[in-house]
Amino acid sequence: MRVDIFTIFPGIFESPLRESLLGKAIETGLLDVRVHDIRGFATDRHRSTDDEPYGGGPGMVMKPEPVVAAVESLGPDRGRTILLSPAGRRLDRDLVHELAAEPWLVLVCGRYEGVDERVVEVLPAEEVSIGDYVLSGGEVPTLVVLEAVTRLVPGVIGSEGSHERDSFEEGLLDHPHYTRPPEFRGMRVPEVLVSGNHAEIERWRREAALEKTRRNRPDMLPDG
Ligand code: ADE
Repeated sequence: MRVDIFTIFPGIFESPLRESLLGKAIETGLLDVRVHDIRGFATDRHRSTDDEPYGGGPGMVMKPEPVVAAVESLGPDRGRTILLSPAGRRLDRDLVHELAAEPWLVLVCGRYEGVDERVVEVLPAEEVSIGDYVLSGGEVPTLVVLEAVTRLVPGVIGSEGSHERDSFEEGLLDHPHYTRPPEFRGMRVPEVLVSGNHAEIERWRREAALEKTRRNRPDMLPDG
């Protein structure tokens, strides 16, 4: 999968793209990520990427020309283009799966109070939000999208299929997990997990997942 990221803070991506799962996926060639500095496409003397909002009000707005020029430098046949914005469609499991099926994604990081609205229409771009709260920019949301999507790219996760049981994949949160030691601060690992009875373990996990969902996310259950 190819991913092009457009930002005015390319440095934010350095270590996240080097470490852990993302780093490994890039190193092994499963993922081809290219980070572009929008500022390099600003044409005025000060290489400015923002300006005051028409109509007044606080904060600055990202100018349309540098962002559009930057994304258009990929050519007309570029991949599905997404602008990270708190005013977008909210990211969930379904959208992550949809994006993971794309061969090429273009992720545009907004900053300041917003991005000139014409950018969305001209590129065109879909607006995506990672949740109902406002961050200072689209860089962290871009990393959230990238990591969630990358986990579904075949070969990226070590044990194939391990994400099929993750939270949300079966309409429930994931069941609790335990590892050694068998007793920690007086709390023992549930006996069934060391019983070797796989049918019983499966039943326990299903029940425990249901219980956790009831407690933490009742809205995910039919009667919630
Ligand atoms: N930029 C600022 N806040 C955001 C959010 N919640 N989702 C996506 N992009 C954002």
